[in-house]
Amino acid sequence: MNVTVIGTGYVGLVTGACLADAGNHVFCLDVDEKKIDRLIRGEIPIFEPGLEPIVKRNEAAGRLRFSTDVAASVAHAELQIIAVGTPPGEDGSADLQHVVAAARAVGRLMQGYKVVVTKSTVPVGTADKVKQAIIEELKSRHHGHDFTVVSNPEFLKEGAAVEDFMRPDRVIVGSDDPRAIAMLRSLYTPFQRNRERIMVMGVRSAELTKYAANGMLATRISFMNELANLAEAIGADIEEVRRGIGSDPRIGYQFLYAGAGFGGSCFPKDVKALRRSAAEAGKPLKLIGAVEEVNEAQKHVLADKIRARFGDKLKGRCIALWGLAFKANTDDMREAPSLALIDDLVAAGASVRAYDPAAGQEAARIFAKNPSVKVEQSAMAALQGADALAILTEWQEFRSPDFDAIVKALKTPAIFDGRNLYDPATLKAQGLEYYPIGRKS
Ligand SMILES: NC(=O)c1ccc[n+]([C@@H]2O[C@H](COP(=O)([O-])OP(=O)(O)OC[C@H]3O[C@@H](n4cnc5c(N)ncnc54)[C@H](O)[C@@H]3O)[C@@H](O)[C@H]2O)c1
Repeated sequence: MNVTVIGTGYVGLVTGACLADAGNHVFCLDVDEKKIDRLIRGEIPIFEPGLEPIVKRNEAAGRLRFSTDVAASVAHAELQIIAVGTPPGEDGSADLQHVVAAARAVGRLMQGYKVVVTKSTVPVGTADKVKQAIIEELKSRHHGHDFTVVSNPEFLKEGAAVEDFMRPDRVIVGSDDPRAIAMLRSLYTPFQRNRERIMVMGVRSAELTKYAANGMLATRISFMNELANLAEAIGADIEEVRRGIGSDPRIGYQFLYAGAGFGGSCFPKDVKALRRSAAEAGKPLKLIGAVEEVNEAQKHVLADKIRARFGDKLKGRCIALWGLAFKANTDDMREAPSLALIDDLVAAGASVRAYDPAAGQEAARIFAKNPSVKVEQSAMAALQGADALAILTEWQEFRSPDFDAIVKALKTPAIFDGRNLYDPATLKAQGLEYYPIGRKS
C-alpha cells in the first residue's frame, strides 16, 4: 500500500519506517528541511533503539523516502497519516495549528479519495476540525468532498518505540466508515499476527482513549510520588510499599516507581490538555488537576534535598548530574525533570556538570549560553571536582557504578537519587550518604 506520513518526528519516523518494513511504500514528509536533509544523508535525527537499520534497509529497498515536497506527498497515497506535534498552547490546551495546517495542505492539493488519519495526540473534536479544514480548502477550489477522517492514536513509548509499533498491545481505529476501516485493518494486519489487536470505535472515543491512557499512567506516578513523600515523613519505605501493592494483580507493578516527577513530550502536555478540555466541556477533572500539581512539586524534591544537605545558598558548589533525558533509552529532554533540577541548582548559585549517554548533544544545545552548566562526555568526567552526585535518568550504565571511584571523586560522598536505583544499606557500607525518594536516607 502507498502511505504518506506527515511529520517525521519520533512518531512519524518510527511509523513510516515500520510501515515500510511491512512492505508498504512510505513517503515521509516534514516541513523541517534540516531534518529531511539529515535523513536523506542517512543520519537518524533521534536516538531510538533498533530504528536505524530499519530506516536504512527500507530506504535502500526504495520503500521509504523523505521529502519536504507537500504536493508529492499528497499525490503519493490515498492514506495520509498526520503525525505532527501537538505542543501545549499558552492556556494548556493542545495547540492544533500543525494538525490543521497538515489537513489544509491535503485539502488544497488532493485530487482523488483520501483517508486522513490523525495519529497525533489530539483532543476530542479534532477530527471534526480536520474535516472542516479540508472541506474549506476543497470548497475554495470547487472540488468534491471525497475523503474521510479517522482517529488512530499512537501508543508507542520512546525508547521501545520500534518494538511497540511492531507488536502493539492494541490498535485503536476511530471511524464509522467501512471503507476507511478496511484500509486500516489491512495496513495493520502484518503487526497482529497472533491475535486481533484492532479495536474499532467512535472517533471521539478513540480521541479520548489516548488521553485516558496517559492520564491513568500519570495518575499512578503522581500517586506513588505523593505516597513516597508521606513514607519519608513517617518512616516507611516506598520501595517496600511498591512491592507490597504491585504484587496485587489488580494493581500490577508497572508505573509504580516513585521519583523526581514525570516528564517527556507526552504525559505533561497530555495531562494539561485533558484538564483543559474537561474544563471547557464543563466537567473539570479534579483528579487530573491534582496529578499535574503533584508532578510540578515533585520536580523540585531533589533540589530541596540538596539544599537541606548543603544549605540554601549553593554558591561555589558544583553538582554532578547523571541523566538528562526524561527517561532511559531516549535523547528526548522535553519537560525532563533534569531541566527543573538544573534551574533550581543554578538559581541557588551552584554549577552543574552533567552527563547523559544519549542526550548530551541536545543538552549542549539547550545550555549553550549557560556558563553554569557543562555537559561532560562520561559519567566519571561529570564527577570530577563535584561536591555531590544527583541522578535523574534510569540508564543501565548508572545502575551498578564503581562506588569506590564515586567516593574518591566527590568532595562530599553524597548521592541524591531521583530514581531510587540503589540499595541504601549497600551505599552506607560504601561510605556514601544516600538521599533517595521516599526511603530512609
Ligand atoms: N513522542 C512520543 O513518544 C509519542 C507517543 C505517542 C503519541 N505522540 C504524539 O504524536 C505526535 C507527534 O509527536 P512527536 O514526539 O513525534 O513530535 P516531534 O516534534 O518529534 O515531531 C513532529 C514533526 O512534525 C513536523 N511538522 C510540523 N508541522 C508539519 C506540517 N504541517 N507538515 C509536515 N511536518 C510537520 C515537525 O517539523 C516535526 O519534525 C504528538 O501529538 C504526540 O503527542 C508522541
